[in-house]
Amino acid sequence: MMQAFLDIADYDTATLTQIIRDGMAMKANPDDHLSRLAGKSIALIFEKPSTRTRVSFEVGVYQLGASPVVLDSKSMQLGRGETIADTARALSRYVDAIMIRANSHAALVELAKHAEIPVINGLTDRSHPCQVMADVMTLAEYKAPDLDFSHLSVLWTGDGNNVAHSWIEASARFGFALTLATPASMRPDEGIVTNALKEGGRITLADDAFAAAKGVDLIVTDTWASMGSTADVDKSAHDDILTPFRVTSALMKQAASDAIFMHCLPVYRGNEVVAEVVDGPQSVIWDEAENRLHVQKAIMCHCMDIGVGQDRGVSR
Ligand code: CP
Ligand code: NVA
Repeated sequence: MMQAFLDIADYDTATLTQIIRDGMAMKANPDDHLSRLAGKSIALIFEKPSTRTRVSFEVGVYQLGASPVVLDSKSMQLGRGETIADTARALSRYVDAIMIRANSHAALVELAKHAEIPVINGLTDRSHPCQVMADVMTLAEYKAPDLDFSHLSVLWTGDGNNVAHSWIEASARFGFALTLATPASMRPDEGIVTNALKEGGRITLADDAFAAAKGVDLIVTDTWASMGSTADVDKSAHDDILTPFRVTSALMKQAASDAIFMHCLPVYRGNEVVAEVVDGPQSVIWDEAENRLHVQKAIMCHCMDIGVGQDRGVSR
């Protein structure tokens, strides 16, 4: 069955774990998957800037034997007022799936509602599930090769933003404990936290990053200013509020001695994390960035109902 990939919470643990496993298989033997999506076309729509999402999806589509159609919303009729519903209806007649980086989550949901093909969330103001699937794959590589995450604890520090939301959903599904240390004014969405708690997530909200870092296996942060976000206060006041949540070497020392550091990138050294950490030995950011490619290939195959286990043509 064709399926959208809008949020991690939409999927059960078994399916998500299988996608991670498939991503690992794609990484280990990319040549086995060269024609898995042969003959398909996938639209990649961008309403916001992107480096990693754009390139990893475009290259991933090619590596699966399909053709990407990269679209900047500003040069589409969408940018001149055509509705998202009509865009979905038209594209459904041409391509086999759509990945969109959308300004608003509502637009993503509207697109998925009117599309007759799978829609994949490449980041909205609310969530970034493909990123966090890559992050979980990276966490598995370093700390949970058997994909049992129950013994792990993760600290998110900084803004309780879209990436944090997907981490919360991932915690409920993959079973690691997650503490989010944020300023009171930047807490994650209450509804997302409540749902995750209801579903058994071990989520804690904290206001002291230093205390919360004690013994954790992973510290993760993100930019202090997400694309399209408008702070309630001016930039310097906003940065002052976030300064106690910066990832420093002292914060890393609070964590387990073999703890790792992640950041979805782009990173702003000296703001949310110091250069010493982001470029230091505990940082796994380049593996994390690479894993976008592999896990997204697995997500595309899953959405188009062509799992890794289903042999649909031979590689070369
Ligand atoms: N992490 C991430 O999504 O990066 P881009 O904004 O470059 O796509
Ligand atoms: N939270 C960031 C993530 C960028 C990949 C943003 O939305 O801009």
